[in-house]
Amino acid sequence: MEIKYDHSEVAWSEFRIFLERLILQSKAKRICEVGGGANPVLGLDFILENDLQYTVIDISSEELDKAPSNYHKIQADMAAEDFSLSGEFDLIFSKMLAEHVKDGKAFHKNIRKLLAINGLALHFFPTLFALPFVANRLIPEIITTKLLRILQSGRSKSGRKGKFPAYYHWCRGPIQSQIKKFENLGYVVDKYIGFYGHGEYYRKVPFIKNMHDVLCKNLIKYPIPVLTSFAYVVLKNKQ
Ligand SMILES: C[S@@+](CC[C@H](N)C(=O)[O-])C[C@H]1O[C@@H](n2cnc3c(N)ncnc32)[C@H](O)[C@@H]1O
Repeated sequence: MEIKYDHSEVAWSEFRIFLERLILQSKAKRICEVGGGANPVLGLDFILENDLQYTVIDISSEELDKAPSNYHKIQADMAAEDFSLSGEFDLIFSKMLAEHVKDGKAFHKNIRKLLAINGLALHFFPTLFALPFVANRLIPEIITTKLLRILQSGRSKSGRKGKFPAYYHWCRGPIQSQIKKFENLGYVVDKYIGFYGHGEYYRKVPFIKNMHDVLCKNLIKYPIPVLTSFAYVVLKNKQ
């Protein structure tokens, strides 16, 4: 297992590249994005160029309807207890979905039901115990929305918490207990990358932003896994 740390800006800017590289390296052809909703990650050009079969699954038909019609879409709750879909995907991935499911165990178990033997799962999600996400989890929405408006510039008034409530269940960086949970479900943890920083929250407050940047640099050098802000995890479906 490879465990690495980097800056959260890299997590956001490199996700599509990381995913495309993983698809090409693993020669995956049958790809599924869960929680892709209105914005599937892979473009139709990449899909056609590499002869991929690409399915987007989302709980919300309203979100799926917003994605271009030439994507293959399925409406399903990936964390359902009575999950009935089955599949043989070579690679399943999610971006900013895992924090929205109430039951992380059911979610990752259901993903396994859709994976071929030795198939890969890649998830990109925010992690506890980064300060803003702890606040988002614990403080009532009315207060977090006001706080965000004070700290951030240009944030829309509606916010996103109401639309997609976040629970952060099973959303941790590369800590031993989280790795064990994946292993207990029958996955091999191939890569776990923890990302530090949530500087976008402090754009309006340079003093805090500077302290935050220094702290991030030090955390990347001397990592404390419980303090990551985001993570990528690559899981392999064991035989
Ligand atoms: C924050 S949005 C992220 C959308 C997209 N991946 C992105 O990064 O722009 C979360 C998405 O996950 C979907 N979602 C939430 N819970 C889900 C579940 N249990 N099963 C499947 N999709 C779910 C929502 O409908 C929404 O489209």
